[in-house]
Amino acid sequence: MIAIKNERELESMRQACKITAAARALAGEMVRPGVSTKAIDQAVHDYIVSQGAKPSFLNYNGYPASACISVNQTVIHGIPGGYVLAEGDIVSIDVGAYYKGFHGDCAATFPCGAISTEAQRLIDVTRESFYEGMKFATMGNRVQDISHAIEQHVESNGFSIVRSFVGHGVGRQLHEEPEVPNYGKPGRGPRLLKGMTLAVEPMVNAGTADVRILKDGWTVVTTDGSLSAHYENTVLITDGEPEILTVTEGL
Ligand code: MF3
Ligand code: CO
Repeated sequence: MIAIKNERELESMRQACKITAAARALAGEMVRPGVSTKAIDQAVHDYIVSQGAKPSFLNYNGYPASACISVNQTVIHGIPGGYVLAEGDIVSIDVGAYYKGFHGDCAATFPCGAISTEAQRLIDVTRESFYEGMKFATMGNRVQDISHAIEQHVESNGFSIVRSFVGHGVGRQLHEEPEVPNYGKPGRGPRLLKGMTLAVEPMVNAGTADVRILKDGWTVVTTDGSLSAHYENTVLITDGEPEILTVTEGL
């Protein structure tokens, strides 16, 4: 069963998502050479707690931090630690906050200092693919209409969509139905209804789509060592344009 949120629930969800988006923005502003990933995680944690919210990821299935920080060939679920960011790195930061009974979930990839034009193109295409998906994120369409648009944009630009991880419904639980793949066929999948809230999150590799999980049980890296980028927002399906609940100006 895909949860439909009523207006009262959405009021709480908007607040959770506003905190989540602000945490992503402040994390992104910290990305520069010399900063450790654990310092960024600490700032995300402190900000979320300062707002009276809880970091959604901390202790989720045993996850040990508040943010996922995934550098270069790390796709998602990078565990913050002693790694010190270097000029030229690309840094994917994924955050979640739980507030008044609801989760927000969003991510973006940030450049550390000057990066290669190819790395910047990867970041740009990944973000653009999310917005291509949004053109189909309206009541009456199907989930894979979104998926297909994302896949088209990524592949037509010569990059690969990660297939072994997908977006998801989000709300009272961090992960709810339905799955929202970043690849698919138009007209397939569950029908989109007004009041559904989805985390749409393309993960895009510069090389092949293949990924593997490191021995820590979390860190997902590209098998070929190529760069990877991630972009995610929590969105509300309406009878018109989707409402991007984790929107931040300039992100
Ligand atoms: N945005 C990610 C997701 O949707 C975050 C989950 S990380 C975890 O799956 F650590 F909480 F698992
Ligand atoms: Co997510």
